[in-house]
Amino acid sequence: MGLFDSQYSNKAGQVDQNRLPRHIAIIMDGNGRWAKQRGLPRTAGHKVGAEVFRKIATYCKNLGVEYLTVYAFSTENWKRPETEVSVIMGLLKQYMLEAIDSMERDQIRLRFLGDLSAISPELQELVERTNAISSRIEGFQANVCLNYGGRDEILQAARTFAAECAAGEAAPEELTADRFGGYLYSAGIPDPDLVIRPSGELRLSNFLLWQCAYAEFYFCDTLWPDFDERALDAAIIDYQRRDRRFGGIK
Ligand code: FPP
Repeated sequence: MGLFDSQYSNKAGQVDQNRLPRHIAIIMDGNGRWAKQRGLPRTAGHKVGAEVFRKIATYCKNLGVEYLTVYAFSTENWKRPETEVSVIMGLLKQYMLEAIDSMERDQIRLRFLGDLSAISPELQELVERTNAISSRIEGFQANVCLNYGGRDEILQAARTFAAECAAGEAAPEELTADRFGGYLYSAGIPDPDLVIRPSGELRLSNFLLWQCAYAEFYFCDTLWPDFDERALDAAIIDYQRRDRRFGGIK
């Protein structure tokens, strides 16, 4: 099976193809609990979780969603045992190597969001290679948050702007929300329309804090390794019932 193959299609036709969220963001939560329930090491949950990411990315692309952003590794996840961190990094490396071979054929752009200075030189080099390929591709974009924290992202944006002001290249009163967005890791990516958190947790956990200002949230109890195309359909259908007002009135 190729990197972005998927067997499932939305045959029930309940998802309104004309009102798809343009950008879906997912906190891939519950891998550890899924593994524990089966008497397996937590890392077994991450391995299945990485497969589920591939399946959901393919499905989003085929459905016509333009951007999928997933939370793969947070700035706080370094606190986990070394073996767990190393398995997650290994899964990311494996995915990047596969993507380098297949993303052009599959027309998938890949972008990594986060403080990438802290990841290994080997992974940094793979990120650069995927970036170079992505620059030649148009269409669906998968964003993988890696050593990502929403507060960290806002702080580094503020520091960059402050440095420009100190250098006389910018003035504080010039700062608008649009301009500030351009200093974030997610510069150029539209804000998420729908944020999904499986596994029963009802928190944002430092994910896309700036970008989620008007996002619709969807929570479900399914653990990420059990999440599938039907679960995504359910989230999109729920989203399509919402009345988005962006602070205005109808
Ligand atoms: C949260 O579940 C999951 C993570 C911190 C890691 C997610 C990473 C992957 C799925 C692999 C990334 C690879 C690719 C290709 C994107 P948890 O461990 O906190 O689960 P728990 O709450 O049940 O303990």
